[in-house]
Amino acid sequence: MTKTIGLICGSLRKNSYNRIIAQALIDMDDFIKFRWIEIKDLPLFNEDLELGGDPVTVSSFKSEIQDVDGIIIVSPEYNAGIPGVLKNALDWASRPSKDSALNRKPVGLIGATPGGLGTAFSQLQTRQILEAMQVHVLPFQKVLISQVHEKIDFDQKVLTDEKTKRYLQRYLQQFIHWIDHIPNLD
Ligand code: FNR
Repeated sequence: MTKTIGLICGSLRKNSYNRIIAQALIDMDDFIKFRWIEIKDLPLFNEDLELGGDPVTVSSFKSEIQDVDGIIIVSPEYNAGIPGVLKNALDWASRPSKDSALNRKPVGLIGATPGGLGTAFSQLQTRQILEAMQVHVLPFQKVLISQVHEKIDFDQKVLTDEKTKRYLQRYLQQFIHWIDHIPNLD
């Protein structure tokens, strides 16, 4: 059956390299349905805001998460960690903790940086945070894209590096296959 995959970009920057990489996923597969799940309009997390029910942006964000078969997060690394805007979004999605939109959701992690370590530290942190939320994170596989500025055509906003394209294609196939094989541990 056709899968619907949500894409969350951990950068709010207009010309984000990570957004270009996420767009490359959409462009490389006609059989998967992709939906952007935006995080830029979420308020800063504050438990007081939950008291009268979720703000509209938050409830739409949670519904968008619920409506997809899996999510791929494509995110930069800030100061060897997860960007604050992404952590903020995940905190919102984690509520209420016993019945969160993210509970048991299959998630894949991809990151790109002009630097040399491909967002490795940020991905480790994100994995740890998601596991605390009882999210299924694709095991073993990582997509760490370093020197990303050399792998894209910035004017056209497209990924051009063939090796990275092949790697992403393979990752996507593994992610989709894995979704149907996650053990039910309830
Ligand atoms: C960065 N950058 C960065 N890169 C990296 O590989 N490791 C890091 O720890 C950091 N730290 C960091 C902190 C802050 C506050 C900023 C603004 C940037 C550089 C970062 O990878 C670069 O700005 C990317 O272009 C951001 O991704 P997008 O917005 O292009 O997707």
